[in-house]
Amino acid sequence: MPHADDNPYVPGFGIVPPALTGREPEFADLATALRRARRGSYERPRLLTGDRGMGKTAVLGELHAATRADGCWVIDLEASVSGDTIAVLLRELTRHLRGARRDARVGAAVNAALATIASVTLAHTGLSVEVELAPRPGVADSGDIAADLGDALIAAGQAALESGTAIVVTVDEVQAMPAAQVSALFGALQRLAKHDVDPTLGTRLPVICVVAGLPSSRAALRAGAGTYAERVREHVLDLLDDAAVTEALRTPAEDQGVAWSGDAITAALAGAAGYPFALQLVGYETWAAAALRGEDADLITEADAAKGVAAARRELDRLHASRLDEVPDTERRYLQAVARLDGTQRRSAVIAAELGGTAQEWAWARARLIERGLLRPDGHGRVAFTLPGLAEHLRAVEGT
Ligand SMILES: Nc1ncnc2c1ncn2[C@@H]1O[C@H](COP(=O)(O)OP(=O)(O)OP(=O)(O)O)[C@@H](O)[C@H]1O
Ligand SMILES: [Mg+2]
Repeated sequence: MPHADDNPYVPGFGIVPPALTGREPEFADLATALRRARRGSYERPRLLTGDRGMGKTAVLGELHAATRADGCWVIDLEASVSGDTIAVLLRELTRHLRGARRDARVGAAVNAALATIASVTLAHTGLSVEVELAPRPGVADSGDIAADLGDALIAAGQAALESGTAIVVTVDEVQAMPAAQVSALFGALQRLAKHDVDPTLGTRLPVICVVAGLPSSRAALRAGAGTYAERVREHVLDLLDDAAVTEALRTPAEDQGVAWSGDAITAALAGAAGYPFALQLVGYETWAAAALRGEDADLITEADAAKGVAAARRELDRLHASRLDEVPDTERRYLQAVARLDGTQRRSAVIAAELGGTAQEWAWARARLIERGLLRPDGHGRVAFTLPGLAEHLRAVEGT
């Protein structure tokens, strides 16, 4: 019987679900990139994009687990408007290098990398990194952060190579990364890419970088670091298909000897509408309903799923309402106007006309809502909602 304490579903943000389904092509590509990088081939940085709750952080989490198990040096970064991702990157490199020091065979490469990081830190006084060794004069102290960080990545990559491992750098929420940091990171990656371990063979160091963020990320990368950053390989994480949702619901239950009836799955599929966050919510609430019913051992019924879907809807409504709570009235009117228009019509001029004004008069509201992370630019002057279901919520609230 499904027991409340054993509920396997994880509605939340950034949590790796028990069954991460429908993202096989993305994982296959990331695995290929890592294997090729380990063989010395150049691999472009990867970019995962998707709206809120589509599973970007979950994919990164799974990548971290798999590559850590494989012995890679994993550096898991989260960008923010006010944080310093570059300092954290250097700190994390230092931590891995210290760990590798126990291996006497790679001592020289590790020490060289630690001294290089000391040079970068000294040359860029704003970086709060605890240094380990005396800096190396003439190395990584040009004053150009991209070049110096590049030297640090090259030295650390050399130490990883000699340790028989690879470095996996990931940056989540990359759309929020300040342009100067984007420019430093991608400039450094470009320098790394140009570095030949062995000029006769043209081999590269085993370092891969995966960044993830909202669909506006590519534009943010271009703004910060120009065309090199634009050459990332992008995967768009979209809604899941029915087969993936079904598997994500069925597998964790089956692991506990619990089955979903066909009708229960049909109801849950309609309730989740392919949205990963909603599928976990529907799964969780349906399991809770089945546990409360307490009879019919080991079967989740259509009635359980109907209750689960209704509870999940209420929860999603509360989530949307709390996001809107902090939005002042005038901005909310802007959001409502956007919600009334269909996707292709959501252009600044059309929205402003809905509200009775010009695009210029309303530009501040558009900018504020993008800053709040509720809207995002969607090309050609259009905007889109970042949170699936928010448009429907706004229309429903307005209609009542
Ligand atoms: N492929 C998947 N299969 C099943 N569940 C998933 C899948 N991807 C994500 N989830 C679940 O959906 C929820 C949201 O995922 P996650 O936090 O990774 O989204 P995100 O894209 O990083 O969102 P945000 O932009 O808000 O950070 C989590 O509960 C996660 O466990
Ligand atoms: Mg996330």
